Amino acid sequence: MATTMTAFRERTVGDIAAHLAGATAVFRKHKIDFCCGGDVPLAEAAKRRGVDVANLETALGALAAAPPDAPEDTVALVDHILTRFHETHRRELPELVKLARRVETVHREHPQAPHGVADLLERAAAELGDHMAKEEQVLFPAMQAGYGGSLDMPIRVMRHEHDGHAEIVHRLEELTQGFAPPPDACRSWQALYAGAEKFVTDLTEHIHLENNVLFPRFERRWAASARL
Ligand SMILES: [Fe+2]
Ligand SMILES: [Fe+2]
Repeated sequence: MATTMTAFRERTVGDIAAHLAGATAVFRKHKIDFCCGGDVPLAEAAKRRGVDVANLETALGALAAAPPDAPEDTVALVDHILTRFHETHRRELPELVKLARRVETVHREHPQAPHGVADLLERAAAELGDHMAKEEQVLFPAMQAGYGGSLDMPIRVMRHEHDGHAEIVHRLEELTQGFAPPPDACRSWQALYAGAEKFVTDLTEHIHLENNVLFPRFERRWAASARL
């Protein structure tokens, strides 16, 4: 047990998230960034957030017997990303933008009115739309076809765009006070924050699967062939 706990502390957040089913929920609960900022050891990530690393290790230790929850097969993993995340973002974001516009307009005099949320969600929809199209048209087909050359450059571009999406997430959390509607918020306002929080949860999981699970399969191949 002690060995497992030491190992968690020293492993990167992204590596734990990629290989331990349920770890992402633990990280989300403690606000540990596992998708774009997952490249640091757990001990360091915990320190940054002011979280006791021993508590995290205990929670992760309880999950340690479970197998990873991402498909092993790359074709299946890409299909999962497309249906579970790309399709969901495309379906839900336009509705969220409309809802945000309505709430902002109706409650514009409210001291906690969510000014800027509709524009931000619209930006998220546009940037994600472009980004997902690139993955769908170029990168993912190459991965599913088992392309043997270097995908290092397009992966680097996708990782950089993910960092931009993470900034949108942080801004959305700020503008909505952590998705907490005021006590007198109407049903639409509550629905907007619940929907925005779900979007952020989905997007975080989506980026995590690409950054920590899918991309390293191809980057490793590139790194190995580069050493020859
Ligand atoms: Fe994607
Ligand atoms: Fe992506």
